[in-house]
Amino acid sequence: MNQQTLNEVCNWFDDYVNRYCQGNGRLHPMLQLKFDHSLRVAVDSRKIASALGWPDKDVRTAEAIGILHDVGRFPQFAKFGTFFDTDSVNHGKYGYGVAGESKVLASCSPKKREVILNGIRYHNCRVIPTELKPESLRFLKLIRDADKLDIFYVLSDAIRNKRFVEHPELLLNANPEGPANPKLLQEIREQRSGSYKNIDSLIDMNLLQVTWVYGINYSPTFRCIAERRLLEGIRAVMPNDPEIQEVITAAREFVTDKLSA
Ligand SMILES: [Fe+2]
Repeated sequence: MNQQTLNEVCNWFDDYVNRYCQGNGRLHPMLQLKFDHSLRVAVDSRKIASALGWPDKDVRTAEAIGILHDVGRFPQFAKFGTFFDTDSVNHGKYGYGVAGESKVLASCSPKKREVILNGIRYHNCRVIPTELKPESLRFLKLIRDADKLDIFYVLSDAIRNKRFVEHPELLLNANPEGPANPKLLQEIREQRSGSYKNIDSLIDMNLLQVTWVYGINYSPTFRCIAERRLLEGIRAVMPNDPEIQEVITAAREFVTDKLSA
């Protein structure tokens, strides 16, 4: 992607988001959060792609996917008033439709268009579809990494600034004071992953997030996790329970091993 096309994508996204402003000219705080998230994910996408040594045109494509990956969130929230995909729509699939039907990728080649649309479509799926072409997979893995990196930030910011008091949906309506769910701990011990159905508390949210390190694809992302001390930040707000601490320690060791590999 050339710089002009990337500029067009940025301008399109600004106009698109502005359509969701309320009467006071501002976005709903939850949509503002998604807007800010998209911009940060774009920056991280660029950063990871550059660190991987990808050519400039690919770095720009990665940035464009970062900007566009959550376009489905805006109509999802406007129509359904929630970010719960299970109660509304799959926002990846929805965003794929939005971007595909718009003019945002009009200057892209059909190949590039497919790569970007697949990035949007599958950024949030639980397992990466193996039937995708290598070019799509390469970019999809990157957007998934950049997205996870920023969600670490969004969650820790929500905890630090108690944003969930006003917006409980930030915690998927989990109980901010509740204990760890033993079913989730067991799931993590057995599979190094957890399911949303076992999230009851803020502690569970943090535990689930810790397991995300096992789904990271690229080494620069591991470096960001270590440099930003994301796991240490989670440890600092977690109870001193050996079972919980063990989950964090195992994830930390996994990141360290990846960095020294
Ligand atoms: Fe998303």
